[in-house]
Amino acid sequence: MVVADRTTQNHAWRGADHFIEQHGRDYVRRWRFKACINAGMPRRWALQTVMLSNAIASNIHHLVLVEMKAMQYIYSLPPSTAFDGRGLFGYSFGPLKQKDSDIYYIEVEKGHDTFMISKKIARTYYVLDGSGYFTIADRKYDVSPGMLVEVPTKVEYSYSGKMKLIAFPRPRWFMGNDTHTKWNPDVVQGNFPCAADGGAWLTRLVRLQIFRKSPIGIYLELNRRLWNRLPASFAALGPIRLYGNFLHALARIHSVRAQAFSTYFLRNRPQLELIGRLLERSPKTGTLRVAVLGCSTGAEAYSAAWRIRTARPDLKLILQGVDISKRAVKVGQCGVYSLVASQVTNTNIFERVKSAEMEEMFDRNGDVVTVKSWLKEGIEWHVGDVGAPELFDALGPQDMVIANNFLCHMDPSEAERCLRNIARLVSPHGYLFISGIDLDIRTKVAADLGWKPLQELLEEIHEGDPCMKGFWPCHYGGLEPLNKRRRDWRLRYAAAFQLTAAGKETGDRVGPSSVEKNMGYSSVGVSAATFPVNARRA
Ligand SMILES: C[S@@+](CC[C@H](N)C(=O)[O-])C[C@H]1O[C@@H](n2cnc3c(N)ncnc32)[C@H](O)[C@@H]1O
Repeated sequence: MVVADRTTQNHAWRGADHFIEQHGRDYVRRWRFKACINAGMPRRWALQTVMLSNAIASNIHHLVLVEMKAMQYIYSLPPSTAFDGRGLFGYSFGPLKQKDSDIYYIEVEKGHDTFMISKKIARTYYVLDGSGYFTIADRKYDVSPGMLVEVPTKVEYSYSGKMKLIAFPRPRWFMGNDTHTKWNPDVVQGNFPCAADGGAWLTRLVRLQIFRKSPIGIYLELNRRLWNRLPASFAALGPIRLYGNFLHALARIHSVRAQAFSTYFLRNRPQLELIGRLLERSPKTGTLRVAVLGCSTGAEAYSAAWRIRTARPDLKLILQGVDISKRAVKVGQCGVYSLVASQVTNTNIFERVKSAEMEEMFDRNGDVVTVKSWLKEGIEWHVGDVGAPELFDALGPQDMVIANNFLCHMDPSEAERCLRNIARLVSPHGYLFISGIDLDIRTKVAADLGWKPLQELLEEIHEGDPCMKGFWPCHYGGLEPLNKRRRDWRLRYAAAFQLTAAGKETGDRVGPSSVEKNMGYSSVGVSAATFPVNARRA
């Protein structure tokens, strides 16, 4: 049996498939034919050569697919995690051929974030390494390597410690099975809010499952497929747009929010352009303080630093990248990225970067690139919860705050609270760039706090990140298409603001504590929405 590197094969085939997809199979045949003619072959030979090469190509493709299928006896740890909590992260093997099985590898750093009761899934854990304890039905059981723990359904349990586990849920994990009863105090302190699985009657109704299937989920999935086939001009018609708004409202109630790490270098070019333009026009001298919140593995922080340094090389830039995930921050801090495998994010973080920009930003060594030292200079990295009240003390006032694409993954009340906390960071007359958030929440907070929506490049920034647009209307994070018929469109669709009355809401600002500034800060303020829901599988 051949065990080949599946990632490399996938990349090679994806490249070829992408070419064929872009140009069409006929184009590829014609291109091959022309190449033969140009090489001086008679027409008939050229035709036969093209037919032969097609046959060889499809046979090779077939052989590789057969080999890849055969290779599926063996599963390695996937490059990205399937779930992340505050006290653990885990990977899921597969998809396995045994469709009724899930196997997880879990690295427990502190413990499972919550206590939970499983309705139908019994879980078995095998302790590979480390030590800790399980609390099952109020009794504590110490565990060490080589031990197996069987947790039946309908009992409350959690686990704590520093250990590596293999978990076997039976049957497979499915949404709505687990009820989370309280935080695990070894991992999270504070009040436990309503579990996301429960909630208001409307939420319960929309999330209702019949024979383990969610009717609303199926309805949304069907609509998603149909919507993606609609011509853009038809989808823009008033009644269709209204129907889209209805679907989006439903998706926001139906889906359980889960944080994601996806990020890209130069993700929203118009937003970077506006940052550059504002700085080019600014009389500012000396030090520029910028915070990039929810920075994931650093692509956004380095992209901002690149645009800022290009616009104003004379300024001393202090840029602080903050993320709640220690693993993501570690990658960002190293500034070393693989060109062939995703690290933590599950996205091709370079897909929006042109080759000249790659050369400007990175040193390349084979399939690995390192952020150039001039770009890394002045960037500080913190692990922390940007919803925590300590945020301001830890970072201090900022000339610009960039907070994109993570508030949409929080429940609305938590997102609003977090946004108000983030706004406290922005200096008077400083700028806030905020996208990837429920538009109702952003509009409400902006109006409440009297932010000035910047009109320059408003439409371009709104359209600037194709992936968020593509999620609308059937995914909770989808970005509503810009609608100029709305009276409030200039506020609703603005993603850049100047904050004139910073601190107005609480008036309780204090200067940054130098100790916390130097040490970074740890995540303390915790709530249900910032808790990564996917971790609940484990
Ligand atoms: C989808 S990524 C977005 C990354 C980047 N901002 C971008 O737009 O490309 C969301 C990131 O926000 C982080 N995050 C989520 N909640 C957070 C919180 N309360 N405090 C700090 N970071 C958080 C996640 O860990 C994740 O890395």
